[in-house]
Amino acid sequence: MRSHWSNRWAFIMATAGSAVGLGNIWKFPYMAGTSGGSAFVLVYLLCVALIGLPLMMTEVMLGRRAQKNPVDGMAHLAAEAGATQVWKGIGYLGIAAGILILSFYSVVAGWVLAYGMRAAAGGFAGMAADQAQQQFAAFLGNPVELLLWHSVFMFLTMAVVARGVTSGLERANRIMMPGLMIILLILLGYSLAVGDIRRSLEFMFRPDFSSITPAAVLSAMGHSFFTLSLGMGAVMVYGSYLQRHVSIARASFYIVLTDTAIALVAGVTIFAIVFANGMEPAAGPGLIFQTLPIAFGQMPAGTLFATLFFVLVAFAAWTSSISLVEPAVSWLVENTRFRRRQAALLVGGTIWLLGLAVLLSFNVWSEIKLFGLTIFEQLDKLTTNVMLPLGGLLMALFAVWVMRAAHAQEELALNDRHYRRWLFVTRYVAPAAIVLVFLNLAGWLPFV
Ligand code: PHE
Repeated sequence: MRSHWSNRWAFIMATAGSAVGLGNIWKFPYMAGTSGGSAFVLVYLLCVALIGLPLMMTEVMLGRRAQKNPVDGMAHLAAEAGATQVWKGIGYLGIAAGILILSFYSVVAGWVLAYGMRAAAGGFAGMAADQAQQQFAAFLGNPVELLLWHSVFMFLTMAVVARGVTSGLERANRIMMPGLMIILLILLGYSLAVGDIRRSLEFMFRPDFSSITPAAVLSAMGHSFFTLSLGMGAVMVYGSYLQRHVSIARASFYIVLTDTAIALVAGVTIFAIVFANGMEPAAGPGLIFQTLPIAFGQMPAGTLFATLFFVLVAFAAWTSSISLVEPAVSWLVENTRFRRRQAALLVGGTIWLLGLAVLLSFNVWSEIKLFGLTIFEQLDKLTTNVMLPLGGLLMALFAVWVMRAAHAQEELALNDRHYRRWLFVTRYVAPAAIVLVFLNLAGWLPFV
């Protein structure tokens, strides 16, 4: 028998744990900063509501119905619907996406660990904006340090995965997630007091349609998948551990709401610090590492809060990264003679190696570019803007065109009105939106 979450709450916490991570705290602010602020935020929010929520329900539903890893799960569902086994491809695509994402995710999680150590050593006290920038640049320029922390983070991730997901994670999640929210609110309070909150809110929410470019729309849509962990089977695997009687719609709603709220709070806080210190919103992937040390360096008990903050963010990244490799590992365990430990070692080792290329692309290999993008940027774009939306599109199409309606309805257990809404959005709105945005790929492929 497969193990299951002990209750509905555990599923929500675990899936929210997968969703809430670097995507909310590191990626969302820097993407908003480089892609035109409010334009990006607006499209992102639209995508979350129109594509993200229904797709979250769809992916959980597929997982719970299949009761298997994404590859065999799709094979099983396809057989049940009398359709071709080609649908298994969704599972393989997801496994590949998870491995590629973790190769850069782990490197950045390593930055968080390193900053946690600096924070604990009191390194941010009285720090000014230019110092914070110099410190981050020097940090990025040191591959040995990046390698050390990337390795530590991969080790932590694989250690949990090797033991199986549902055990220790549940308990830890229950303390750390609320902890992260509390510390974010403390930071927000600080920003309200001394940051430039007005400009931050304007930057994030005052509609400015001039900066809605095709590239920004694509990144905002891609990010809505990334931040909700959608389109690669992570949610499907977690759904497969969900007991039968739990309401998928309600659980999905809470997860999406939590994830979005955390991203918005992080964004508002960070931009308030950016503007108060005359910094550049478009600083890129280093944004939080260049801004937050200034805030922590000035606030009372800053060393304590800074340390707690980075530890909790590292924890959030940890719970996300576990879900990134779970499809690959559960597939290996259920299909080969590998035991969980061996599968974890193999998958973890591969990702660790890929991560080396990523971390070098921030320094020694920063000049190696493909179509003008570094290795890190290519991997990020390929997964976030292409693989995840494509996976999500295929899942949606499968759920409404291939799967028997009675099965979907039974699994979702919605009343008629809500079911018809879900059907309409999943059948037309979400696929059309994804395809339309894809047609705009020109923003990423300069030769189109
Ligand atoms: N959602 C996670 C985050 O925002 C990243 C992630 C993407 C996790 C895809 C699993 C699958 O940090």
